[in-house]
Amino acid sequence: MSRGVFITLEGGDGSGKTTQAELLREWLAAEGRTVVRTREPGGTEVGVEVREIVLHHRGDISPRAEALLYAADRAHHVATLVRPALERGDIVIQDRYIDSSVAYQGAGRVLDPEEVRGISEWATEGLRPDLTILLDLDADVARGRLDESRTRFDRLEAEASDFHDRVREAYLALAAADPDRFLVVDAGLPVDELAATIRDRVAGLL
Ligand code: TYD
Repeated sequence: MSRGVFITLEGGDGSGKTTQAELLREWLAAEGRTVVRTREPGGTEVGVEVREIVLHHRGDISPRAEALLYAADRAHHVATLVRPALERGDIVIQDRYIDSSVAYQGAGRVLDPEEVRGISEWATEGLRPDLTILLDLDADVARGRLDESRTRFDRLEAEASDFHDRVREAYLALAAADPDRFLVVDAGLPVDELAATIRDRVAGLL
C-alpha cells in the first residue's frame, strides 16, 4: 500500500494556521504533489453539521459531550477522507487534529487530557500525523489579531484569556513530549519567513 504524508497544523485561534496551510499547499502543488487540504472540525458534510453544534450552539454543552462531538467529527473525517487520501499516496494538510482536543478540552481542567486523547485515538484507530506544525503565539497577541478581523466569535474564542494561556501551555508541553513529530515555530515572525521554515522541514519528509 502506498502511503502519503499526513501534516497537521496546530495553534491558538488567530495564530495564522490557515495562511501557512495555504502557502504550503501552493508550494507542494507547484512541486507536482497531490495535496488534500482539510480541517477539523468540519472537513466532511457530517462534520460541517457537527462543527455548527460545537462552535455555535447557544447554551451549554457538557464537557464530555463536547469532547465526544469533536471525536465524532474526527472519526468520520479520518475514515472517509484522510485515510483514503493517504492510501492513494497524497499529502494531507490539515488544520487541527487530536492535539487540539488534548489542548482545548484538556485545558478546561475538567477533563483528563489523556482520556481526551484516548477517545480520539479510538475514533481514528490510532492514525498519527507524520509532522505537526505548532504556530506558537502569545494568547493576547492572537486575540488582538482576531479582534481586528472578526465580527462573530465562536464558543471557544469567547473563552477568557487564561483559558487561552492554558491552551498555549498545553500545546508547548505536547510538543516538548514529542519533539520528533512537532515543529514549533514563532507565529509572530513574518509570514514569508515562517513559510520558508515550514517548507524546509516538509522537504525533509518527502
Ligand atoms: P478553527 O476551525 O481553527 O477556528 P477558526 O476557523 O475560527 O480559526 O477551530 C475552531 C475551534 O474549535 C477552535 O477554537 C478550537 C476548537 N477545537 C477544539 O476545542 N477541539 C478540537 O478537537 C478541535 C479540532 C477544535
